[in-house]
Amino acid sequence: MTNALSQPILVTGASSGIGHHLTKYLAERGHSVYATARKAADLAALAEIESVTPLALDVRNPAQIQAAYELIAGRGLGLYGLVNNAGIGALGPLHTWNEAEMLEIFDVNVFGPHRMSNAFVRLLIESQGRIVNIGSQGGLITSKYYGPYTMTKHALEAYTEALHLELEPYGVMVSIVQPGGIISEIGANSAAGTFARFERAAPPFAEEAQQVLASFQEEPEEISDDAPESETNRKPSSPEIVSEAVYQALFSPKPKRHYLVGTHWEGNRVIHALIAKLLDENDNPQHNYSRDELVALLDQHLAQRDHASLKGAHPR
Ligand SMILES: NC(=O)c1ccc[n+]([C@@H]2O[C@H](COP(=O)([O-])OP(=O)(O)OC[C@H]3O[C@@H](n4cnc5c(N)ncnc54)[C@H](OP(=O)(O)O)[C@@H]3O)[C@@H](O)[C@H]2O)c1
Repeated sequence: MTNALSQPILVTGASSGIGHHLTKYLAERGHSVYATARKAADLAALAEIESVTPLALDVRNPAQIQAAYELIAGRGLGLYGLVNNAGIGALGPLHTWNEAEMLEIFDVNVFGPHRMSNAFVRLLIESQGRIVNIGSQGGLITSKYYGPYTMTKHALEAYTEALHLELEPYGVMVSIVQPGGIISEIGANSAAGTFARFERAAPPFAEEAQQVLASFQEEPEEISDDAPESETNRKPSSPEIVSEAVYQALFSPKPKRHYLVGTHWEGNRVIHALIAKLLDENDNPQHNYSRDELVALLDQHLAQRDHASLKGAHPR
């Protein structure tokens, strides 16, 4: 088996945002990267980056996925990592989503990673490699008007867990990176669909939808750079923090299952939401830990984690 560092990594959705940053980040560190894009201009730009092989690939297109597999397998250099990054964002009141839009967002964000993982799994077992899915903090929490996008990212959480359980015995580790707001083209790329859905909101939701639409068009209020982050003063992070987490998931000897990345405010929001959910789950007649039992359980899990990290393994 050749060294992990010498084997290529495949990144989907490398034309912009996180995927583009990650492609350069990996190439700068001496890795050979297969980077996928859909538009000729993006493929040409990727071809200019040293150590990058561009591949024309839409994750909804099985024939293109098969062609990518044949090219990579045919080179005989193996494949160490698959980063399922390609994805689409979108907002809108739930009742405005038509079936085609709903199918499309699942097709790209959930079935895309499934098709890619299936296509490359044998190469990844041969290399004892890694799969890293780009999820979202929206895979753990949800917000008003983010329904279908966060539904796909919740599905990707379950997909990652199940895939990990099935592949770990064969030497392939699977992780999910869960970013908060990251500077990218996701908003611009999804704006047309988002506006159209708010436009077609029906009574009794139409009035509020029109207010949201108007707020999209307003000039953003001047807020000083050092004003604290809040729901209305979001501070998106650089894609660098996502690339760093993906790198850990790819190359750490014992990768974690989950890598939450983003600002402190975003991290707080997720942890508070998960604690509230845990307390809700605990609050039922059949099974209800007392406060002291909950604290003891937390201590027990922390101790197990410390023990595992001393031995170099991250507990699940
Ligand atoms: N930015 C954030 O705040 C944020 C937060 C959490 C998670 N994420 C996740 O990060 C990932 C990357 O998003 P981004 O923020 O970097 O957005 P982005 O700049 O819009 O990049 C999305 C990438 O996915 C590609 N893509 C879209 N549909 C595709 C398809 N059917 N087949 C193949 N490629 C496709 C796009 O290619 P084209 O240029 O050809 O459309 C582009 O390369 C997504 O999974 C997203 O959900 C983003």
